[in-house]
Amino acid sequence: MTSIRLVRDDLRPPGPPPRRHLLSVSDLTRDDVQRLLGTARTFESALDREVKKLPTLKGRLVVNLFYEASTRTSSSFELAAKRLSADTLTIKSAGSSVDKGESLKDTAQTLGAYDPDVIVIRHPQIGAPQLVARVTDAHVVNAGDGKHQHPTQALLDLYTMHQEFGRLEGLHVAVVGDVLHSRVARSLLQAFALVGIRCTLVGPPALLPRGLDAEMTTDIGVIRDADVVYVLRMQQERMEAGANYVPSLREYAARWGVTPDRLRPGQKVMHPGPMNRGVEIDPRVADSVDALVETQVRSGLVIRMAVLYDVLTGGPVGVRALAAAEVA
Ligand code: NCD
Repeated sequence: MTSIRLVRDDLRPPGPPPRRHLLSVSDLTRDDVQRLLGTARTFESALDREVKKLPTLKGRLVVNLFYEASTRTSSSFELAAKRLSADTLTIKSAGSSVDKGESLKDTAQTLGAYDPDVIVIRHPQIGAPQLVARVTDAHVVNAGDGKHQHPTQALLDLYTMHQEFGRLEGLHVAVVGDVLHSRVARSLLQAFALVGIRCTLVGPPALLPRGLDAEMTTDIGVIRDADVVYVLRMQQERMEAGANYVPSLREYAARWGVTPDRLRPGQKVMHPGPMNRGVEIDPRVADSVDALVETQVRSGLVIRMAVLYDVLTGGPVGVRALAAAEVA
């Protein structure tokens, strides 16, 4: 988090405390990741109760600004804010003044006039969250910028893996598919490096970008060796028109699709969603008990609660804080 970078910055001149943001996994330390996963765990246990709302962020305003299609990410940020009793305002570009050509800067400044505590932003342009952080006084959380970063996805995936295996260090994850256009893959690689997860990228040569610091192969056979097979969507909306990354989707499915016969019995499979069944993932795999896709969605809620809490309060939520919240 810029947060953390700022916390580490002892030479900062005196003045009001810096705003904490979550813009990129590269701003996080291993300790930050551990603290956020721990906070999410505490929130998860609170959600087991009949009344699921905590008063923790009562009176705060969380604005969700989504310039790209989203189901899981936007709904979980909204629910996360509501579970913590914050007010929420969700703006989707379709139907807003963005449709009338308003610039991101103008939209951000307009919403900034409501004094939001947090702005969660998803945008097709790389760096859009940084711009919002510059032109408003809100804490900013990146919910996906182009093919660059999607830090809360990486955190919820680590949370899911930790829940499943009881550890992260030493796990081996095969990330399969359209790595080239994937902000999820870029964020995951950085997160894996922080916690000691080994990663192998697998896919067609044209969809494996050069310059990433990771093992790469075009051989789908290697996925059997991994603890987790992490499947990426073929992101056609991000592909350049006319470029031939794969001969056809059918060919892609035949050579790199994750099918039952390519997996070990019991091998765990993850996918950030939305899934293209029959393309990157066989429906039998998507529906099997070893697919952790629904767990990922549940993890998304508690991780986003933890992130909102963390940027606003700057510390781990303790049992005492929750106990106080319960009586409030
Ligand atoms: C991902 C995204 O938007 O980057 N989805 C998500 O957040 N659940 C992955 C994708 O779109 O394929």
